[in-house]
Amino acid sequence: MREQLEKIKEEALKQIAASDALEKLNDIRVSYLGKKGELTNLLKGMKNVAPEERPKVGQMVNDARAVIEGKLEEAKTALAKKAREEQLKREVIDVTLPAKKNNVGHSHPNTIALEAVERIFVGMGYEVIEGPEIEYDEYNFTKLNIPPNHPAKDEQDTFYINKDIVLRTQTSPVQARTMEKGKLPIRMISPGRVFRSDEVDATHSPSFHQVEGLVIDKNITLADLKGTLAEFAKEMFGEDTKVKFRPHHFPFTEPSAEMDVSCFKCGGKGCRFCKGSGWIEILGCGMVHPHVLEMCGIDPDAYTGFAFGVGLERIALLKYEIDDMRLLYENDIRFLKQF
Ligand code: DAH
Repeated sequence: MREQLEKIKEEALKQIAASDALEKLNDIRVSYLGKKGELTNLLKGMKNVAPEERPKVGQMVNDARAVIEGKLEEAKTALAKKAREEQLKREVIDVTLPAKKNNVGHSHPNTIALEAVERIFVGMGYEVIEGPEIEYDEYNFTKLNIPPNHPAKDEQDTFYINKDIVLRTQTSPVQARTMEKGKLPIRMISPGRVFRSDEVDATHSPSFHQVEGLVIDKNITLADLKGTLAEFAKEMFGEDTKVKFRPHHFPFTEPSAEMDVSCFKCGGKGCRFCKGSGWIEILGCGMVHPHVLEMCGIDPDAYTGFAFGVGLERIALLKYEIDDMRLLYENDIRFLKQF
């Protein structure tokens, strides 16, 4: 019996040593120490042992059991440790590696320019009002003093949806819509997309953006227009910026003007940027035509006002010295990131 016991113990220890998984250790425990395990079976053979020998043999079986249990426990701990070490090895982090960069988006130069324009005018107490891109001919032209057959309708290369509905060629129709609402005084800007059937080149696109401005109140004069736009130019292009107004013609304003700003590259001395003139054309403006006020339900004897229109792309191209408008529509992140 002693020999049998030694054999069982040896065999068990051999199997434990060769085990490489927790489940295998569990199987070994069951097959040796379980209810039907080999050691348990051996104990059943005790009845054949002489009574005086029994305590001794019992002690031996218990010792063997303790040794096997001890080894099983040891093997289990060793396996768990190995598993932990392997996990650590798998999850090792090299803290000296450069961090992965998240590729975040970037504001478009148009958006940056628009936000600057909005900040300036909202700071002066203007409201931002938007209008529809698909517009009635009546608002885009008629109510702005551009009657049927007026050459401006041709000039602007309009996209017609039908004879009454167009893709707006300018943001000026928002003036008429705002005046018609009848809430006075008005101090508003209206940014948005406009459309003209122009061929694409470095300075033209069939779709671009304008910001319209409109002020209507009692006693508004040309001096208010000049003061406001001069202040806008300073905030937009720098404190030393000078402005110059050249007479022009727009059907919806009288008198009308174009405003130039002193070249912010050379300060007005003349350079390649301003084509040697020292001045850069920025926007159109004028005093709202009395006929326009009347058509929009405002008494021109009681109220006057001024209006202006700025091309947003033009501002973005000038401010960031971009020489091809097409770059603004490609949305290449490598280009956009520069601003
Ligand atoms: N709507 C004009 C254009 O598209 C720009 C403009 C000029 C708007 C003078 C105005 C203005 O409000 O007073 O060319």
